[in-house]
Amino acid sequence: MKPIDRKSFNHEDFYIKLDTEVVGRNFIEVDEIDSTNSFLLRTDEYTQNGTVIMADFQTEGRGRRDREWSSMKEQNLTFSVLLNENLDDVNINLLILGSALAVAQSLEYLYQLKVNLKWPNDVLVNGKKIAGILLESTSRGSNIDKLVIGFGINVNQMNFPGKYNIIPTSVKSEFKSTVNRERLLAEVLNNLEQTFQDIYTSPEKVLNAWRDRCKMIGEKIKVEDDGKIKYGIFENITDNGFIILKTAAGKELIHIGDVSIR
Ligand code: BTN
Repeated sequence: MKPIDRKSFNHEDFYIKLDTEVVGRNFIEVDEIDSTNSFLLRTDEYTQNGTVIMADFQTEGRGRRDREWSSMKEQNLTFSVLLNENLDDVNINLLILGSALAVAQSLEYLYQLKVNLKWPNDVLVNGKKIAGILLESTSRGSNIDKLVIGFGINVNQMNFPGKYNIIPTSVKSEFKSTVNRERLLAEVLNNLEQTFQDIYTSPEKVLNAWRDRCKMIGEKIKVEDDGKIKYGIFENITDNGFIILKTAAGKELIHIGDVSIR
């Protein structure tokens, strides 16, 4: 696959604001692709740790639980980050929570939005979904070979035709002004690299920053997984990023599922 020449995205503006050592230092913009996650998972073409592939349009953008991720051409940010170093003791859940946190911090800092995080991967503003994270991996034997973290951030799109699990919104809809995608992407990657470091050195900091933005903690919730429904109180998240659900029968750890307020 060849990087494109036509620039819908100004690489200079992006690089001026990028303040990372690893994440995004190899940055590729592609015109159209099935899914940036699928591409990074299947290719051996890009191997540099921290490589970021951004697509102007995805024909088969995917969300969590095999849902579709649709995004209008050149309006938003759809990109994936490749991680293939130091993955031995990696905590996948913390990476998901930390990735959502990096998006939240960027939206708060650049546009003063009040951001709420919904377990495990949703970024919400005013109860509507502004961004989502999809983490996937490949393994070799019992070791993780590479991790791909996909980000879909609704930036300048104003209409969202179709059916959604959570009503979508965009930065432009909430900030009431067109947003510079280059600046936002650089900020997200800057925060992401910092968060990755924090996950290794002070995971509590990441967990607490995530907890601060989660409105559901302490609330009665419903957890749905493959048609199975559980009710209880969202007591907290564990150090590993799982939900502690308090039910009549005791406490239970939730590793997977869709969570909503009861
Ligand atoms: C979700 O909220 O369910 C996750 C959405 C993740 C969407 C992004 S867009 C870039 C990357 N490529 C994909 O196919 N999905 C992720």
